[in-house]
Amino acid sequence: SIDVPSVQSLAASIANPAHVPPRYVRPEAKADPVASDGESELPVIDFSRLLHHRFSREESTKLHHACADWGFFQLINHGVPDDAMEKMKADIVEFFKLPLEEKKAFAQLPNSLEGYGQAFVVSDDQKLDWADMLYLITRPHQSRNIDLWPAQPLTFRDSLSCYSMELKSVAATLLELIAKNLGIAPEEFSTIFQDQPQGVRINYYPPCPRADEVLGLSPHTDGSGLTLLLQVNDVEGLHIKKGGSWFPVKPLPGALIANIGDIIEILSNGVYKSVEHRTIINAKEERLSIAAFHGPREDSMIGPLAEIVKGCESKYVSISYGEFIKAYFSVKLDGRRLMDSLKL
Ligand code: SIN
Ligand code: FE2
Repeated sequence: SIDVPSVQSLAASIANPAHVPPRYVRPEAKADPVASDGESELPVIDFSRLLHHRFSREESTKLHHACADWGFFQLINHGVPDDAMEKMKADIVEFFKLPLEEKKAFAQLPNSLEGYGQAFVVSDDQKLDWADMLYLITRPHQSRNIDLWPAQPLTFRDSLSCYSMELKSVAATLLELIAKNLGIAPEEFSTIFQDQPQGVRINYYPPCPRADEVLGLSPHTDGSGLTLLLQVNDVEGLHIKKGGSWFPVKPLPGALIANIGDIIEILSNGVYKSVEHRTIINAKEERLSIAAFHGPREDSMIGPLAEIVKGCESKYVSISYGEFIKAYFSVKLDGRRLMDSLKL
């Protein structure tokens, strides 16, 4: 595997914009158009109303359109206790404040993504993202590599266990409603997502003196089924692709940002979209976020579901999730390249 420095340490050492290494500088970062305020609005889905879908179809219909037209939505009244979110956030902030050597005790092992480090570094000459991350497998329980879970701050492991459990429940309910909206037998989805595998990626984006020429995360789609994102502090930075420009997301207080990943796009034969997104960097302030990915079982076959394809054409190849995820992490992500290669 390829060794790259901690961007947090690099950022702290840079006294002048000219010192930002060229491998982080990418002109396209500011060349792409960004949608202006008020052009349209990211759908807001009220989870508490979804739970009453048996009595009112209205919110489920809204969910369907959010998944089909945007691939992204804000989820409010999701029922995750404030306490679980606040403790997780506080521990994440503390972890990234630790000296580099202490964080490195939880560093990624060679050729593995899990732990403290970076994602999608596949060659020595590629452009690099202006971000550090801590990626941990949280579910199923027996897949946890607890040695990579920070032991500092002392409450970190408990906070993550609790946060993981809360988000898993929200994701499981959403997946069930998504299956209903797609007209799929609930057993079919529950087999694919059995044991509710989950990984949590904590993103740390340091400020950068050339903020508009670097990217926190390059454009990509998520390789998961369903992602639930929590912004940790008040600094915004998530952009989603909408009609040829980048649409800045402004999270509502306490909301989770949900998005459809590649797996649900494939299973739904393209009815739901796995939409490209990227993150930008702030010149003065750090930004932190937590993405919880909910994916299928490693051994499940991923292809358009028969009930959805019916008379029409299947739009994607079928691939085992194991193969898919290997391909996903083996290239420097660049928008929808992998998904387009799976199209028939
Ligand atoms: C991601 O794509 O997971 C990053 C989202 C964010 O930091 O807002
Ligand atoms: Fe993402």
